[in-house]
Amino acid sequence: MNIIHLPIIDSTNDEAQRRISLNREATDDFVIRADFQTDGRGQRGNTWQSENAVNLMFSYVFHPKDLEVTDQFLLSQAASAAVAEYLNANNIPQVSVKWPNDIYSGMKKICGMLIENSVMGKYIRTSIIGIGINVNQRIFPENLPNPVSMANISHQVYNLDTEFESITAILHKHLAQISKDNRQMLKKEYTGHLLGLGKTLIYNAKGNIFKGVVKDVDDFGHITVENVSTGESQKYDFKEIELVIPEQNKLTE
Ligand code: BTN
Repeated sequence: MNIIHLPIIDSTNDEAQRRISLNREATDDFVIRADFQTDGRGQRGNTWQSENAVNLMFSYVFHPKDLEVTDQFLLSQAASAAVAEYLNANNIPQVSVKWPNDIYSGMKKICGMLIENSVMGKYIRTSIIGIGINVNQRIFPENLPNPVSMANISHQVYNLDTEFESITAILHKHLAQISKDNRQMLKKEYTGHLLGLGKTLIYNAKGNIFKGVVKDVDDFGHITVENVSTGESQKYDFKEIELVIPEQNKLTE
């Protein structure tokens, strides 16, 4: 696998996209890794901030075989399960997936993902799986709601090259499992890690704050949350609901 390790770049996802555009015929997977991003991007138009050379930031460019656009949530499931397995293997406690694909330890965010797909016909042609894992950073900016790093938890200093090799190998293994045959297994693995499954936490659905219990995430990535007060369950699309982070939720743990 071709690994491109850059000291500084705007965003590894953007660099991956530029390289894909320059070589449209290529079908080999590759990874762009950076020590520092000047314009790191997150979900919902957020930024991703990290100190220089203390955390892992990379974009894994994956060319799935015969993956239909309607099945794109399998990519989130596989990548989330991979990071969860990696953190579990490093003895990080209470690892879970906060829908759709943030990775938490307890009620704190240890990893974020930005998956950007390009489509050809009804198939996904390339998937840029951008992953930021807080590894050695000790102190975070105050504007971040609930960050945590592996070092905050374990009080160890990690070798980033070793950790990068480990996470990319696990990710490679999980991505190879993306095929229709493994759909149930991927769903089970993802749901097994899901934060809030069967547990009352506080949600915000477009300004409506309520206590809810996650019931399920379907094959398209829509989440079903039951409102504890009304007993009604509703299905939500991306951006329609979010977990209220994290202070209020400590009350319900
Ligand atoms: C989020 O939590 O909102 C997603 C954060 C994704 C951050 C990673 S870091 C590597 C890659 N490059 C980016 O610009 N973003 C992703």
